[in-house]
Amino acid sequence: MYSEKVMDYFMNPRNLGEIENAAGMGKVGNVKCGDIMQIFLDIDENQVIVDAKFKTFGCGAAVATSSIATEMIIGKTIHEAMQITNKSVTEALEGLPPLKIHCSLLAEEAIRAALWDYSQKTGTIIEGLEPPKDEDHDHHHHDHDDDD
Ligand code: FES
Repeated sequence: MYSEKVMDYFMNPRNLGEIENAAGMGKVGNVKCGDIMQIFLDIDENQVIVDAKFKTFGCGAAVATSSIATEMIIGKTIHEAMQITNKSVTEALEGLPPLKIHCSLLAEEAIRAALWDYSQKTGTIIEGLEPPKDEDHDHHHHDHDDDD
């Protein structure tokens, strides 16, 4: 069901961990599956992302997409990082099963949330960046929406 590349990133995740005092941290979750993803960014004075790490409590696709997303984002500027989308991470993983697309969306959202955190802390404007949907990261909704 998963591509070899997804399995590889799931079994041997790159950039697993966290960055203390990260310049930007994004934490997002999917209420339906309960998976949670965190992305940490280290950003230098030239607005270049010099390091990225992730922590994901979730399915294989969530682990793989967040891991490959950290690899894709390192070396990019905060503005170039906006080009990383759920589509580009899915392509980099040679595809995901249709039921797993929401997992790659989580990676895109986590990156944007980390960039948002950085932009708020530093007063930097990143074009096209919108605030995360749920700014209160510790707040959980318990309402169910069964037919999707
Ligand atoms: S099943 Fe929810 S993130 Fe993968």
